[in-house]
This record gives sequence, structure tokens and C-alpha cells, in this order.
Amino acid sequence: PRVALLFGGRSGEHAISAATAAGVLGAIDRDRYDVVPVGITRAGRWVVAEDRAERWQISDGRLPEVTADDGAEVVLSLTSGESTLRVLEPGQVPELLGEVDVVFPLLHGPFGEDGTVQGLLELADVRYVGAGVLASAVGMDKHFMKLVLAGHGLPVGPYEVLTSRQWTTDPSTCLARVESLGMPVFVKPARAGSSLGITRVDDPADLTAAVEAAREHDPKVVVEAGIQGREIECAVLGGRGGAGPRASLPGEIVVDDTHAFYDFEAKYLDEAHVQLDCPADLPEAVVEQIRELAVRTFEAVEAEGLSRVDVFVTPDEQVIVNEINTMPGFTPFSMYPRMWQATGLSYPELVDELIQLALE
Ligand code: DAL
Ligand code: MG
Repeated sequence: PRVALLFGGRSGEHAISAATAAGVLGAIDRDRYDVVPVGITRAGRWVVAEDRAERWQISDGRLPEVTADDGAEVVLSLTSGESTLRVLEPGQVPELLGEVDVVFPLLHGPFGEDGTVQGLLELADVRYVGAGVLASAVGMDKHFMKLVLAGHGLPVGPYEVLTSRQWTTDPSTCLARVESLGMPVFVKPARAGSSLGITRVDDPADLTAAVEAAREHDPKVVVEAGIQGREIECAVLGGRGGAGPRASLPGEIVVDDTHAFYDFEAKYLDEAHVQLDCPADLPEAVVEQIRELAVRTFEAVEAEGLSRVDVFVTPDEQVIVNEINTMPGFTPFSMYPRMWQATGLSYPELVDELIQLALE
């Protein structure tokens, strides 16, 4: 089968998506799949991208970027009713890149992980890896995500939502609502990822600046009460042949005092002060509780293919669901593949499994 890998994109997580593509380009079985790498520039232009993992890696703190100079612009022919997406270069024969059987959107954040690209692929009637339109949109928007999870009876922490109108017309009521959560709080753009725009606030005097920082990414802001507990993640993979989704062994994020929390820097640029413990050292009963909650969270948003569910485990061993990511970080060093590896599925096997799931 012919697989188009989509990466880069318009969101603040452009570079992380490119790093994810580097991992997949290096691991995908070339005897089995014909690969068409398609990079999306920050401006949203689709270009034929270099099929070389090293070009897209994060190395020495340098973040990779897709630019318009990377290759010829790609034109998509979205002929509804044909079960293929045609990827063409303008002025060249259609066969140059040809038809693809499946698209793997390796995109993080808005315009990629949020249902927009998924909607485009639905229109084109082409198969794709991962969650559909609704699950992607719910997973991207922390406000609606919490409503859906709570509506399914899943344990979520206390939070407040500040819409743009509320904040611009009545900031003092907004601040009072936020202060009622106690300190610290985490102020987050509703729709972003990789901790972009997130501030940990310990002093109410710093709230306004934190809300303004979040609003640079999204006019809607979600403020979460800080939860004292260990940060644990669990990988979920859709089941083949009608089988239900399954959860990996959990992993733990351990960040030292250099970072106020697991921020962008800690996630991608600072290996010295962050440790990913996989599998996490937890009592068996807690592991089972996390795996069960992860699958229930996946099902609550009707995710497909893959998702990473992030939870807190409190000192009295309660598990609280923090969020679901429908296109989690997916470099070979990211938590999602590492948790599967600890559970017995290697990175190349995982890539293959996800594509096969989409082709079913
Ligand atoms: N949003 C980043 C890529 C993650 O969830 O891993
Ligand atoms: Mg998270």
C-alpha cells in the first residue's frame, strides 16, 4: 500500500510533528509500504518533503521546520466518491506521486489533530490513521474534553473555563472564579499542545499575565486546579478485527526542580532534567485501574487508532484523568511508543499496526 505521511503544519507543534515524522520515516517497513512524505509549512502550504529521517529530527536543540523551499507544492485532488486521494505536483503527470491508499496524519495541535484534516480526508473519501472528526475535535479542546469525560462519569479535576467574551467584558469575575480553585493553578489555552502557552501560577497576582499568555494561543482559556500527585501516562491502541481497544503498561514523567512543570523545554529540549520511567513503578492494583480508565477515556470520546491518556495518581492512590491526546508525540523516544515497547510491541510493529488498522 501507498502511505502519505502528513507532517509539520500550522500549529505551534510544527517542529514536534516533524520530529514524529523523522521517527516514522526511519522505521516504516519499506518492503511493505510505498511512502509519500508530505510536509505542511507553517503557512499551510503542502509540499513534497524529503524522505530522510535525519532532515526532520530535533538535534542539538534545533527544531526542524518544513519550508516552501523543501519541495514542489502538492495539489490534492479531492474527488468525492473515489476511494483515493490523489497527490499531484502542479504541471506534472498525475502518476508522479499518484494515488495513496492511506494517509497517516502525524500532525499535532490545531489544523491537524483537531478534526480539520480528518474532515478533509473524509471529504476525499480516503482512509486515514487515528481518530475521526469528532474525537479529534473533542480531544483538542480541553473544555469540551472535560465535559465529555465528566459526562461519562470519569474522574476529572476541578477547573474553570474563561471564554473570550467573559474575559474581555468581566475579568474580575473571571479572576474570582479562578481564585476559588485555590493555588497553584495551571492556566492553559483550550486548544494547544506540548504545554505551549501554559503557565503554572502560585500567586493570584500573576493570574492576569498567565491568562494573557494563554490567549496568545487560543482566545478560550481553561484553568485547572493543581493536583498533587504523580504524572502517569498510558497508551491505548485500537483493536483489529472488531476487538476492543487495549491499554499499555503505564509510564511516569519525573521532572526535577529545574522546571516548574513538564513544560515545552522539559518535553523536547532538556534530557538531563526529565526522566520517563517506563513501565512506572506502581502497585499492580493501581496499574490495572489506570489501564481500565485509559480504555474508558478512549471510548468516552470515541477515539480510534491511537491515543495517550494522561492521569494523576494522588498520594492516596486515586486516579484522576487529566487529558487524552489523539495524536500523541510519536518519535521513537516519546512516551507513547515507549509504553508499547515495554508492553511487547516495538516501534516498527506499532507503525505497521496503526496503518493496518486504518486499512481494515
Ligand atoms: N501534544 C504532544 C505532541 C503530546 O501529546 O505528546
Ligand atoms: Mg499531557
